Amino acid sequence: MDKLNDKSLLKQHSYINGKWHSGDAKFDVINPATDEVLTQVTNAGVAEAELAVKAAKDALKAWSGKSANERAVLLRNWFNLLMQHQDDLGRILTLEQGKPLAEAKGEIAYGASFIEWFAEEGKRVYGDTIPAPSSDKRIIVIKQPVGVVASITPWNFPNAMIARKAAAALAAGCTFVGRPATQTPLSALAMAELAERAGIPAGVFNIVIGEDAKGIGKVLTQHPDVAKFTFTGSTNVGKQLIAQGATSVKKVSMELGGNAPFIVFNDADIDAAVEGAVLSKYRNAGQTCVCTNRILVQQRVAKEFTEKFTAAVAKLMTGNGLDDSVFIGPMISSSAVDNVDKLVQDSIKAGAKLELGGARVQVVDGNFYRPTILSQVTNDMPIAANEIFGPVSPIISFETEQDAINIANDTEYGLAAYFYARDIGTIWRVAEGLDYGMVGINEGLISNAAAPFGGVKQSGSGREGSKYGLDDYLEIKYLCMGGLN
Ligand code: SIN
Repeated sequence: MDKLNDKSLLKQHSYINGKWHSGDAKFDVINPATDEVLTQVTNAGVAEAELAVKAAKDALKAWSGKSANERAVLLRNWFNLLMQHQDDLGRILTLEQGKPLAEAKGEIAYGASFIEWFAEEGKRVYGDTIPAPSSDKRIIVIKQPVGVVASITPWNFPNAMIARKAAAALAAGCTFVGRPATQTPLSALAMAELAERAGIPAGVFNIVIGEDAKGIGKVLTQHPDVAKFTFTGSTNVGKQLIAQGATSVKKVSMELGGNAPFIVFNDADIDAAVEGAVLSKYRNAGQTCVCTNRILVQQRVAKEFTEKFTAAVAKLMTGNGLDDSVFIGPMISSSAVDNVDKLVQDSIKAGAKLELGGARVQVVDGNFYRPTILSQVTNDMPIAANEIFGPVSPIISFETEQDAINIANDTEYGLAAYFYARDIGTIWRVAEGLDYGMVGINEGLISNAAAPFGGVKQSGSGREGSKYGLDDYLEIKYLCMGGLN
């Protein structure tokens, strides 16, 4: 942290109503690459969450009353500041989350791109006029901000998951209370510091950080002044939060777990597929909801793909993300490493063949797992049936196009899927046959601000990013004007 150019980006307290709330109770923020304590952050709780909701409610009238253009100017200021401080923000992110510095800086640009994009899209919240069934009436539809938005976001994208939600909320005219993960609070607090410098008024963007996940979660999902709740995280936690929100019929959007298939057909460009699979699997040490979770390869090319993929993965450097040569950083915690290793070892016992890796990295402190490849996997093995959230690739081979679709869809999840093929008929049949919210076709990286991110089945509801993402923060109001004859 002493290498930050702007040391005032390092904040240690919740940001509520434009003020930093210090307190005696603290928790440690740990660097997962070294297990060292980076700093301590004030442990906020239920009282601070309630204060933040009140601040957001109080700020709502003035913020929603601004023109979309006025809000866009402030959002654009925020975007500019995030990009000006990309190096420092990237360093903070690497230190608390672990991903390599280049990837962390990429996340800052990715997060900021949502703010830039929604600043503009907020100007295009169009309504509608509808021909009325009788001549003395007119039907008009307007869209209005839902109100106070509360969010809970995970540690794997400490900047971008907040930005993706807050950008749409603020552009739509809503105010925002976010509870980031306690493993990675510093990126969120730096965003709050820059939101303030950008001129975003007190109460519009609030960050509450505390270890009482249940207590804070209850306020955010049940408070009568919260109109909408949005969550990114595991399917199990998402289900609990939906149930909590049901008591006051909150509008919810959920970006939950995934079990992404990555399908390689016989006619695929194998080198391109290898490159796509490496990026889609090993980005963020395999800790993203859209990471490839299962690689399905058609029999004729299975050997060639496995050999080329194994050779490419064997070259990836694992280590501290501050080291320029590193491609795979640490996992978030020691227990995360243990969980992944258990999936690997149980699957080997069930008949999978270890092609690469398959163990913790023992030579350094921190929470590192060797990039791992298993072949001869079947879809019922633990490594294929569960969301791995680590740097492990299970390879399943299949015979026909329909087999691939069946195996790919044989999961409760439906977030992202990928496939590589050249035949145009295969491309359309498979794209339409996959039960997923997002499909990468000859492409392993699909996330961007202009596209609708979200899943089907137990991977969630609602979309983030894109013109569809704004709708999640807007209510439709129907105006019926009568007595016109
Ligand atoms: C996630 O893992 O939830 C987000 C990944 C992305 O935005 O690409």
